Amino acid sequence: DHLPALLAAIPKAELHIHIEGSLEPEMIFALAQRNGVHLPYDSIEALRSAYAFTDLQSFLDIYYAGASVLLHEQDFYDMALAYLQRAARDNVVRAEIFFDPQTHTARGVAMETVVRGLRRACVDAHAQWGISAALILSFLRHLSEEEAFETLEQALPFLGEFIGVGLDSSELGHPPEKFARVFARCRELGLHVVAHAGEEGPPAYVWAALDVLGAERIDHGVRAVQDALLMQRLARERIPLTVCPLSNVKLRVFPDLARHSLPQLLQAGLAATINSDDPAYFGGYINDNFTQTFAALPQLDARDAWQLAHNSFAASFAPEADKRAWQ
Ligand code: HPA
Ligand code: ZN
Repeated sequence: DHLPALLAAIPKAELHIHIEGSLEPEMIFALAQRNGVHLPYDSIEALRSAYAFTDLQSFLDIYYAGASVLLHEQDFYDMALAYLQRAARDNVVRAEIFFDPQTHTARGVAMETVVRGLRRACVDAHAQWGISAALILSFLRHLSEEEAFETLEQALPFLGEFIGVGLDSSELGHPPEKFARVFARCRELGLHVVAHAGEEGPPAYVWAALDVLGAERIDHGVRAVQDALLMQRLARERIPLTVCPLSNVKLRVFPDLARHSLPQLLQAGLAATINSDDPAYFGGYINDNFTQTFAALPQLDARDAWQLAHNSFAASFAPEADKRAWQ
């Protein structure tokens, strides 16, 4: 069977990756030592064995703790360069990378430190491996809209350094409506707009992400299958879904990959894509997501693989000339 080799070799775009979720336990320990940060784990193995999640919140608690070792521009650079090198190996030619500035500014790290380190990695990775990379600033939805506005204010000097905004963290109880005004301001600034919705939250959150926030893509969106009218709209308007299969199993959105909704999404003509979300925490980078998902769902074939890769470029915010060249 040559499908795994094909899945690995196809050029693809990764559109749903949280850079803080690419921090491997080895790098967390190395940065903790370099920066003199105390970790509540004795060893790399002890940290890794804490990665036993039962839902989104149980993951987020550990993910935010891991990010506490990031202090200096070089730390953000090292993290992002390691991810981009690994992604290039998976034949990712375009990466649109989420970062969570509030996780860092809350600890006294300046916005400038975060953005400069990440951007420098994007530039160097392009020079070294030819991978095209861009940043998406993601607001933490468990915090207030006022705090999101403060974060946007801090990011204004760096408007040229990121291409859009997103919305992540604890979904239930934090519907898109909470951020209507700050997203309206982001659209006025000419930023692209995406939002996590329909991961743990209901289809109503996907509707609101589209109608209230003006989201151009939906991150996850896998619960849309519970709403036939929503499925029709997503298909008709070709609204991309950035699906993360291994994440969904680890956070128990689906009991196993064999019961993932991806085949239904593709069957209904939706512009679904495959992504890794937080590869250091969920047991795999983008090609692991492709190969394990296809292995668990034998109805998916080589045509679906090409469709998913095509969807990833069509859904990307890269310059149109680049998109045409990749497709
Ligand atoms: N969902 C919400 N917030 C997140 C995620 C996710 O999958 N990963 C990192 N922050
Ligand atoms: Zn995510």
